[in-house]
Amino acid sequence: MARKIVVTSGKGGVGKTTVCCNTAIQLARRGIRVLVADLDFGLNNVDVLFGMENLATYDLIDAVEGNCRARQTLVRHPRYPTLYLASSNRAAEKYISPQALCLVLDALAPQFDFIFLDCPAGVGEGFSRALSCADEALIVTVPTISAMRNADRVSGMVQGFRLNRVGLVINLVKREFVRRGATFSPEEIAVALRLPALGVIPEDERICLEGAPERSRSFRRLADALLAQEEQARQGIFASWGKRG
Ligand SMILES: Nc1ncnc2c1ncn2[C@@H]1O[C@H](COP(=O)(O)OP(=O)(O)OP(=O)(O)O)[C@@H](O)[C@H]1O
Ligand SMILES: [Mg+2]
Repeated sequence: MARKIVVTSGKGGVGKTTVCCNTAIQLARRGIRVLVADLDFGLNNVDVLFGMENLATYDLIDAVEGNCRARQTLVRHPRYPTLYLASSNRAAEKYISPQALCLVLDALAPQFDFIFLDCPAGVGEGFSRALSCADEALIVTVPTISAMRNADRVSGMVQGFRLNRVGLVINLVKREFVRRGATFSPEEIAVALRLPALGVIPEDERICLEGAPERSRSFRRLADALLAQEEQARQGIFASWGKRG
C-alpha cells in the first residue's frame, strides 16, 4: 500500500512540483512504484515537468466526477516504467470534497509504493483537500525569512491533520552564501522550524532550464531519506518485538 506524501509549502514557487517530480524519478530509477498526483487543479504543471503533456485521456477530476475509473487516469512515464502521473488538466466546475478525492487516491494506493501529492500554493481549499488525503507531509521552504515564516505556519496547520510523519525539504540553497554566512544554513533552518530535514537541494540552473540531472545527488539523498524512514520503522517494530519475546 502506497505511502501518500503531500508536498506542500504555503508559499508559492518554492519548488513543490520540482521536489515531487525529481524525488519520484529517483525512486522510480530503483524500480519502486511511484505515482505523482497533480492536486494543483487548474494550475497543474507536473505533466510539463515530466514531458507528458496531452497524454492523459482522463484526469483526477474525471475520476472524482465519475466519468472514469481511478486507474484510467494513470499515464506511464515514457522513460521510467514504474513511474506514473495522474494529472488534473482543468479546474473543477463543482466543489471537490476531500472525501471524494481520497476515495480515488485510495483506489490507486494498492498499485504503488509511493504517491506524491503535489499541493497547490496557499492554505485554502486545495491545501486542506491535499492534506486530508495524505499520510505524511514534506514541507518545502527556501532560505528566506518570508518562506520560513510560511513554512512555520504550515507546519502548525499540518498538526490538525492525522499525519504519520512531517519532514522538511530546504530548496534553492546557495552554497556560496551559506559558506559566507550570508544566509541561514540548512541546519539553522531545520532547528528554527523544529522539523527533521530530509532534503537539501542546491540552487541549480539546470533545474529550471532542463530539469534536475537524472543522477542528481541531492534528490537521490532525499529518496534515500524517505526509504530510510521505512527501514527505521521496520527496525522499530522488530526491536520492540524482540524485547517482548
Ligand atoms: N533547486 C532549484 N534550482 C533552480 N531552480 C529551481 C530549483 N527548484 C525550483 N526551481 C525553479 O523554480 C521555479 C518554481 O518551482 P516549482 O514550480 O517547483 O515551485 P512550486 O512551489 O511548485 O510553485 P507553485 O506554488 O506555483 O506550484 C521553477 O521554474 C523551477 O524550475
Ligand atoms: Mg507547483
